[in-house]
Amino acid sequence: MVIFLAETAQVLAQTPQSLKPAPDAEAGAQAYADNCARCHGPTGAGDGRDSKRMHPRPRKLSEGVFKFRTTASGTPPTDEDLYETISNGLPGSRMPDFQRLPEDVRWQLVYHVKSLSAAFQDKPEPLAFGKDPGKGANLAKGKELYTQLGCNACHGPQGRGNGPSAATLVDQWGDHIDAANLTQGWSYRSGSSPRDVLVRLMTGLDGTPMPSYAEAVKPEEVWDLAYYVHSIQAEPRWSSKVAAVREELGWDKAPRTDLRLSSTFYRNGEIVPSSVRAVSVQAMYNEKEILFRLTWHDRSESRETPSDAAAVVLLEDPNSRWRSGSLRGWTGKTEPAELLSYEDGEWTALLKRPLPSGKRAGLGVMVWDGGNAEQGRHRSNSNWMELILK
Ligand code: HEC
Ligand code: HEC
Repeated sequence: MVIFLAETAQVLAQTPQSLKPAPDAEAGAQAYADNCARCHGPTGAGDGRDSKRMHPRPRKLSEGVFKFRTTASGTPPTDEDLYETISNGLPGSRMPDFQRLPEDVRWQLVYHVKSLSAAFQDKPEPLAFGKDPGKGANLAKGKELYTQLGCNACHGPQGRGNGPSAATLVDQWGDHIDAANLTQGWSYRSGSSPRDVLVRLMTGLDGTPMPSYAEAVKPEEVWDLAYYVHSIQAEPRWSSKVAAVREELGWDKAPRTDLRLSSTFYRNGEIVPSSVRAVSVQAMYNEKEILFRLTWHDRSESRETPSDAAAVVLLEDPNSRWRSGSLRGWTGKTEPAELLSYEDGEWTALLKRPLPSGKRAGLGVMVWDGGNAEQGRHRSNSNWMELILK
C-alpha cells in the first residue's frame, strides 16, 4: 500500500474530449481483467477471488452506485470522477491507486467501468460549488452548522467518528460502516482539502448513510462548514523513532510521536482492517522504569471483556527485530488501572514498564478495540519503532 499523506489533487475540470483517447472496448476489458477483476469480479458483481473480508467491500460496479462524485446525489459520476478514483485509489479502503498504469489505459478503464452498469444511461449532473472563500471562510459559522445539521450525530461532537448513531450505521449493502474520523485527515477516502470536503457535502456519499447537503444549506455556508471540518484535522507526527525524556521534565516536554496501526488479524488469507488507525505515544523514564502515555481514538468505550486495551512490546536490542518474529519481550496488555480515561472517543492509558538496559530499544504498540471483537477487527499494531532514551 502507498502512504497517503498528500491531499488528493483538485478534482479535474472537464477534460477536453480531444485529450481523452477514443474508447477501445477490447483494451478496456483486458486492463480490467488484469487489474480489477480480482476484487470487483469479472463482470463487476463485486465477487472477485480476493473480495472476501474487505471492509468496506469491493464495490459491485454492476449496480452503478458511486460514493465519490462531483455530481448530484443519485446521478452517475463524470468520466473525470472515475479517472480520479482509479488514479488515486481510495485510502482507508483496499482500493489501490493505479498511478503505474499509463493515462491512456486509465481512460480505457473508465469506459469499461461505465459499460458494466446501466447507471450511465442517465446523464451525470455536475454540481456548481461556488467560489472558494479561502481565508474569508467563517469557521465559527461552520462550527455552528456542524451541530445544527447533525453531523455530530454520526461523526461525534469533536469529529472522532463516535456520534450516538455511529454504532448502528449500515451501508446500502447491509454492512456496518464507520462514520469517518474527521480529525484524521490522512484517513479520508477521497481527499481532505476544504474543497474535497465541500464536494463530499454537496454530493453526499451514495450507498452510505452520509447524505447530500446541497439542498439543506446555502453554498457559501457549505464552504464555511468545509473549512471548519478542515480545521479540526490534526497534523500527524509520523515517525519511526520514539524519544523518551527524563521524568523530571514532565509530559509537556515529552515529544509526541504518532504511529499508524494496521490489523494483524488474518482470516481466510485476508487482512481484516482495524477500526483503530493510529496511536500517539509519549515516554518518560527514571533509573528503574519507563512510563508510556498512549492516546488513541476508539468509537466506543468497552471496559468489560472483550475490553479495550493497549500493550507496548519492548525489545532490548533494536536490531534484533527480524529475529523476533514472535513477540518476545512482550510485556502484556494494560491492566484496568492503566486505562486512565475515556473521553469523547479518546482513550488515554499510562503504562509503566521496566527500563530497558541500553540507550536504544525496539518498541511496538498494539491496541485492542473491544467493541469490534465480534467482527474480528479488534487488534491492530504498529511497525517496530526505535525507542531512544534521551
Ligand atoms: C484489492 C482490491 C481492489 C482492486 C484490485 C480494485 N479495487 Fe476498486 N474498490 C475496492 C474497494 C474495497 C472499493 C470500495 C471502497 C469504498 O466503498 O469506500 C472499491 C471501489 C471502487 C470504485 C467505486 C468508487 C466510488 O466512487 O464509490 C470504483 C469505480 C473502482 N473501485 C474501480 C476499480 C477499478 C477500475 C479497478 C482496476 C483498475 C479497481 N477498482 C481495482 C477494491 C479494489
Ligand atoms: C447519518 C450519519 C452521517 C451524518 C449525519 C453525516 N455523516 Fe459524514 N459520513 C458518514 C459515514 C458513514 C461516512 C463514511 C462513508 C464511507 O466510509 O464510505 C461519512 C464520511 C464523511 C466524510 C469523509 C469522506 C471521505 O473522503 O472519506 C466527511 C468529510 C464527512 N462525512 C463530513 C460530514 C459532515 C460535515 C456532516 C454534517 C453536515 C456529515 N458528514 C453528516 C455518516 C454521516
